[in-house]
Amino acid sequence: MKKWHHSDRIIAPSLLAADFGRIKEETTRAIRSGGDWLHLDVMDGHFVDNISFGPAVIQAIHETNDVFLDVHLMISRPDHYLQRFLEAGSDMITVHLEAEHDVAETLKRTREAGCKAGLALNPATPFEHARPFLDQIDMLLVMTVVPGFGGQSFMHEMMAKVEAAAAYRDENGLSYHIEVDGGVDATTAPIAAAAGANVMVAGSSTFKAPDMAEAISVIRGA
Ligand code: DX5
Ligand code: ZN
Repeated sequence: MKKWHHSDRIIAPSLLAADFGRIKEETTRAIRSGGDWLHLDVMDGHFVDNISFGPAVIQAIHETNDVFLDVHLMISRPDHYLQRFLEAGSDMITVHLEAEHDVAETLKRTREAGCKAGLALNPATPFEHARPFLDQIDMLLVMTVVPGFGGQSFMHEMMAKVEAAAAYRDENGLSYHIEVDGGVDATTAPIAAAAGANVMVAGSSTFKAPDMAEAISVIRGA
């Protein structure tokens, strides 16, 4: 794996903004354009008001290249589906704190399977609710939009949560990455980075850019 320290800037293009008729080519385009990870948004039409794709699509991507698969489960029962996402070849599985499951148990099962474990917080969920789990995760995902759709505006008010997460990590000798997801582009990435985020999910601003490589390099340097 190319990068792993929480000080590394990692760009994760979100496949949700890709052309779904050409998923393999779009994945290759993201990798060749300099994407570090591929962010995969799984939506069940219940936890969020949208339906995307499931483990079969992730497995197809896994079989065609070795890019790090950053799987974001926006589903009500991540515990029920976990095994299928593990078997599909996920490198990291991020589950929501707000979903209906035993969060500690899901994180534990994920790590025991040799997969990285992430925990996601909706905009309405305070940082404090994540505290009991912070020594059990590889990444904290701070949503910067209400999840469900690409192309929404970055919520600047989430930066206080990112700052709190970074301060808590550093004060307690922890090492989780901090990922921001939603409305991340050349303008908002430096704001998120200044607050302490190091993993930038970017859908519309990369896949829909006229030049994806240029868009990723701008976000990386911003
Ligand atoms: C939103 C998803 C995001 C989405 C981001 O529910 O979790 O990953 O793809 O899209 P942009 O970057 O277009 O805001
Ligand atoms: Zn996402």
